[in-house]
Amino acid sequence: MSELNKIALKIISNGKGILAADESNGTMTKRLSAVNIDSTPENRLTFRETIFSSDSMNECIGGVILYDETIKQITSSGKSIPDLISSSGAVPGIKVDTGAKPLANSFDEKITEGLDGLRERLKKYYELGARFTKWRGVYNISKKYPSKLAIHSNAEALARYSALVQECEMVPIVEPEVLMDGDHSSEICLTKTTEVIKKCFEKLILHKVDLSGMILKPNMILAGSQSKDKISNEEVSQKTIECLKNSVPIEVPGIAFLSGGQSELEATENLNLINKNNNTKFIMTYSYGRALQQSALKIWSKNIKDRVATQNTFNHRAKMCSLAAKGKWSIEIENK
Ligand code: 13P
Repeated sequence: MSELNKIALKIISNGKGILAADESNGTMTKRLSAVNIDSTPENRLTFRETIFSSDSMNECIGGVILYDETIKQITSSGKSIPDLISSSGAVPGIKVDTGAKPLANSFDEKITEGLDGLRERLKKYYELGARFTKWRGVYNISKKYPSKLAIHSNAEALARYSALVQECEMVPIVEPEVLMDGDHSSEICLTKTTEVIKKCFEKLILHKVDLSGMILKPNMILAGSQSKDKISNEEVSQKTIECLKNSVPIEVPGIAFLSGGQSELEATENLNLINKNNNTKFIMTYSYGRALQQSALKIWSKNIKDRVATQNTFNHRAKMCSLAAKGKWSIEIENK
């Protein structure tokens, strides 16, 4: 087993998943403004330190994705954030892309930037304690999109990023996110997501990325958020498995889904059914941002000094996600 494969398995095995706490300062400001909290470095640290100190970190969270600001912050007890995360047994990770910008010659689509100087930045993040990384490519669905240009260029960037990350002895999370915005059907989402993921693996293989030392972070197969085609959770799980079976090489150890705007409950229920129906050899778990932190953030905003209430809320959500990662979640346990 390679070192990278061992790190990947440590992050996603035994009902553990990833806490995606890598909101950029811009995104975090949106999340905090929505609950009437000022987005200062201190407030961002206090919320994240509260979450990372929760009991459920030990059994439910295998890895935490951090943002550049957070990985350098020092907690109230004097520990660094990566040390706090490692002390719970989880692996510290870091978002290394610098965001999605308009794609030249297809201005309504996006290309993710951040390759220039990446090798040097990766070395610094490794010294700060990171052992895995994330890069998000983003695609929108409409009649014309995603275009071949967006599919090729984002796959190329994801592959170049992954090769550099493995060279620096870290595990790349490859995140091609096909957005749920729009009125497309789940069938279209299935077709487009399959095409996007297949192209990513074509480029990953071209760039000689060790597929056993990476984690794929895809969207689930859903109907567009404005679509009339409402599909059941059972269908979501079946289409999602079909997509991954047809597009992911068997060397990949696991898949950690993004929640992508699903509610906490939907993201949990869908993951649970994916695991109940999982007839592949891939581990299927979570790499949720909003679907792990939304309720906890609301509770925290009522009294930012009440660590216990915030942690209780986070612990419940993390436990439900962990049960779903084993196919053992139920609505009765959820509401108990
Ligand atoms: P969500 O689960 O909120 O979609 O966030 C996951 C993530 O890391 C998006 O890049």
